[in-house]
Amino acid sequence: MNEPNKNIKPFAMQPDKPEPEGSVEWRSPSNIALIKYWGKQGNQIPMNPSLSMTLKYAFTQTEVKWHPNDGTTQGEFDFFLSGQKVGPKFEKRVGNLINEMAKAYPVLNDLYFTITSLNTFPHSTGIASSASGLSALALSLLSAAQRATGKADEYPRFLQKASHYARLGSGSACRSIYGPYAIWGGGVNTESSDEYAIPYKPHQDFETIYDSILIFSEKPKKVGSSAGHKLMDEHFYRQGRINQVRENSFRLLKALETGDFDVWQEVVEQEALSLHGLMFASHEPVLLLEPDTIRFIHDLNAFRAGKGLKVAFTIDAGPNIHLLYADEHREIIRNFISEWIMDHHLQIQVLDDETGKGAKQLFE
Ligand code: DP6
Repeated sequence: MNEPNKNIKPFAMQPDKPEPEGSVEWRSPSNIALIKYWGKQGNQIPMNPSLSMTLKYAFTQTEVKWHPNDGTTQGEFDFFLSGQKVGPKFEKRVGNLINEMAKAYPVLNDLYFTITSLNTFPHSTGIASSASGLSALALSLLSAAQRATGKADEYPRFLQKASHYARLGSGSACRSIYGPYAIWGGGVNTESSDEYAIPYKPHQDFETIYDSILIFSEKPKKVGSSAGHKLMDEHFYRQGRINQVRENSFRLLKALETGDFDVWQEVVEQEALSLHGLMFASHEPVLLLEPDTIRFIHDLNAFRAGKGLKVAFTIDAGPNIHLLYADEHREIIRNFISEWIMDHHLQIQVLDDETGKGAKQLFE
């Protein structure tokens, strides 16, 4: 297993003394999948493995305060996101996660939690907050559970458990724990697992990749990802997709290991287009791309032809483009983006991000 982020201070070194009340705070980033997770079974088990690049600036910061409850309720909480109490749908997700964790940490049933969470990115940017949000929550709740019992795991084991619980909250969240890249799903290498993600360190040329996110629509998704994953259950191309991911994972890992930007571009773009191709070909077709998404891809192809630029686009379950590129082509790509937006007289937001190191605990 690759070494986890050394910047995070292991609290496991603290004395084993139960803390009936306390507070803990974590920052956890979003991530962008290069090999897409699309389709799941059972309790959040992915249909196929996925591989993501961890982001740096798009993150959620979550504080969990705990104290003993009055004994009449179990695992009760208040959850405030950006100062507002969250809605019933999200509350249910949080409640389910606490229940799952309480199976291993019954102490959670005896506590009351006040949870406050902030995102660095506005809600309306179409950036999925579930990866950063659910991973920050899983990390904070697991810290709380271990401190309340006075039994802390060693740091790598703690992160692995947090990734497992983050997965139960939202599949892609399990990858956010680690940087600069993470792999989730069994069979990719001897350590990868369906239960949690593992960190992955590529060739140094891939250690810092920039990501400009073009926000073509700020509207919430028409099809939530859980409904989207379901479309793979009976999908005509299900087996074909499983085979494709096997080959793409193998090719991408080799490219990331050797610093091969041509294969990286080919696989990353094929994964994005396959994801949307699968949506188009579902028994209930889903079309999330906007005309500007397609227009941008056409113009990018024309612009980069013959230039050998280290750039690749990817798209998640929405219309927004993530344009990934190496430092040496940063200026030319950023210029291209600005000019493209102005040439088309568009008023769109672009968020600039880059490879990050993973989650981090905050200390006072
Ligand atoms: C297209 O992780 O949001 O972004 O497990 O139902 O919460 P749930 O799904 P989610 O799915 C993400 C799908 C994707 C690809 C990816 O991130 O791998």
